Amino acid sequence: MPIPERLNPTFAYAAPAPSDPVEQARQRLIVALDVPDAAAANELVAHLENTVTWFKVGLELFTAAGPAVIEPLVRRGHSVFLDLKFHDIPNTVAGAVRSAAALGVRLITLHAVGGPAMLSAARAALEGIENPPELLAVTVLTSMDSSQLNSVGMDRSPADQVELMARMGLAAGLRGFVCSAQEVATLRALTGPEGVLVVPGIRPAGADIADQKRIAPPADALRQGASYLVVGRPITQASDPADAADAILRQMAEAL
Ligand code: C5P
Repeated sequence: MPIPERLNPTFAYAAPAPSDPVEQARQRLIVALDVPDAAAANELVAHLENTVTWFKVGLELFTAAGPAVIEPLVRRGHSVFLDLKFHDIPNTVAGAVRSAAALGVRLITLHAVGGPAMLSAARAALEGIENPPELLAVTVLTSMDSSQLNSVGMDRSPADQVELMARMGLAAGLRGFVCSAQEVATLRALTGPEGVLVVPGIRPAGADIADQKRIAPPADALRQGASYLVVGRPITQASDPADAADAILRQMAEAL
């Protein structure tokens, strides 16, 4: 089933988008390098780099290995998503965003609950930077359900909270958001084709859900309007990560 026009994202590719659906899928799959150190990351990248082009460096790896883990990925022509989910006072987050941009990463996350002033300061920090990375506001973590939200005093449903965060982010001048597949169609309708919507919590049929709550299979997330899919454990903990990634690319291609 093709993606309805309304849910189709646009991409600012340097080159024209490839016509082969598997190649298109390859440009939209991000593998989370959630491993404990640089050696484990290098080993995983060596297995995967002929199959995927995007890698996500998150808190576990960055805290262990530092910014040095980014440079070889960028040098080898990969696109890097730095997922540190900044949440601090506006001045501190602006500085962190500038530091992240200097590393050559393409996507950076910050928590939408940091508020409009923090989001605006982050956006302003990228002004004047040539070919800046995209800022992604994390709406509600895909590991959160209503009961988890209620525990931290958020009484809305995850869907309503996601929409509130996205409207606030748009008003602060952002166009990139992280949300689950369950909310991505609503956000695509809000952002239009220019929205950069990144969806974690992706699980192929039969995969272990683990700590995720709001999950979807790869093709469904794309059909709902996702720009990029983030996949961690279903690839990184597979006995053959490249095979697992290839299977997910083929499932994504069915929706493209
Ligand atoms: O292993 P799994 O596929 O669940 O990994 C999902 C990745 O996406 C993790 O690196 C996690 O930090 C990240 N993420 C998420 N939910 C968000 C934002 C990022 O799961 N809202």
